[in-house]
Amino acid sequence: MEYNVLLLGSGGREHALARAISNSPLLKNLFIAPGNPGTAELGKNVNISISDFEEVWEFIRKNEIDITVVGPEQPLVDGLANFLEAKNHPVFGPRLQAAMLEGSKEFAKEFMQRHDIPTASYQTFDQENFDKAAAYIRNRNKYPVVLKADGLAGGKGVFIPESEAEVMDVLEELKTSESLQEAASKLVIEDFMIGEEASVFAISDGDSYKIIGNAQDHKRIGEGDTGLNTGGMGAYSPAPVVTDEILRRVEIEIIEPTISGMKEEGNPYAGILYCGLMITEEGPKVVEYNCRFGDPECQVILPRMKTDLLEIIVACAKSELATVDIEFDDEVKCCVVLASGGYPEQYEKGKEITGLEKIKDAIVFHAGTKAENGKIYTNGGRVLNIVGSGKNLEQAIKNTYEEVKEVYFDKLYYRSDIGAKGLKH
Ligand code: GLY
Repeated sequence: MEYNVLLLGSGGREHALARAISNSPLLKNLFIAPGNPGTAELGKNVNISISDFEEVWEFIRKNEIDITVVGPEQPLVDGLANFLEAKNHPVFGPRLQAAMLEGSKEFAKEFMQRHDIPTASYQTFDQENFDKAAAYIRNRNKYPVVLKADGLAGGKGVFIPESEAEVMDVLEELKTSESLQEAASKLVIEDFMIGEEASVFAISDGDSYKIIGNAQDHKRIGEGDTGLNTGGMGAYSPAPVVTDEILRRVEIEIIEPTISGMKEEGNPYAGILYCGLMITEEGPKVVEYNCRFGDPECQVILPRMKTDLLEIIVACAKSELATVDIEFDDEVKCCVVLASGGYPEQYEKGKEITGLEKIKDAIVFHAGTKAENGKIYTNGGRVLNIVGSGKNLEQAIKNTYEEVKEVYFDKLYYRSDIGAKGLKH
């Protein structure tokens, strides 16, 4: 059978998903909503609002879509998978009860506690009790401390204050900021974990699971992991910090009990499970779960995958994941994000991008771009992802930065130390 696929989302992650799906012999037609100029080269971009479930369903019906693949977290946490499953339409992405592993930090912490999954110890406070939260942090007198808004906050809901004064500023911001107030209706206070961060991804049909790669992201805007948090400024895969022994522990101590725990609790987890980890001296611990692929981690994992992604997605939809072997090539991939100067704060859009045609030995994934009159312009904070390869990390980094140099737009910014952490191992 060949499949009509609808892919939802518009970032670099969705361009990487579109590329993998478009290479499948099982594909009939690929539609991407809303997509970006990169995905337009691989399928048909369609201008529908992915937060309007009725509009999505109307499109699915009219275009005889066989399966819908959801890229970002918001529609999943809003219940899109439940909505489409109720119409008997196969969806790749967890139902909202399972997506709550990302949608509520408190839910995730309570779940991990119930299933003995290693993570930092925590306390939760409602927004009305932020004075009690402040007193708790004062009495505990251990800095830095990690403060997390319970709900989705677009990557802006985590703070690591280093003093009581900084804690008070964060609490004030969470109470008053228009964009954070709702997500911070509850606050999770966690111990600060010491170690190196890495991400391990699993795919599940709700019953069985397979590990589909690991990567290391670079969340801060500045060189040497300094400055404000971003959606991710670059990544590489595989990450040497995830040794075979660490991976074995992640599987036994984290992934297996997460998938079996969700199933036992009546909320089987079907889709991509993103385990954001801290590799501590005691072993791997969960920093956060996400209910989707990472961006830019997806851009370095999928190009390494030799197995047909659409075959895997279809196997998940049929609850037959156990029958598929997922294979990867031996190359290392490195991704450098090209951003608009000023991101993650104020930045300008509409700058013409030149030099893309000169890139020969790397994959270009579009994110915040738009096409007009045959030219490509910047249209977001994270603009492009340049993904290069090598037989080892050092070579992958070198090859990627050689291609990065070909691209230009006014106020272009990128980190020049993507992957450097991995070379220390
Ligand atoms: N790169 C981090 C994320 O996708 O959440």
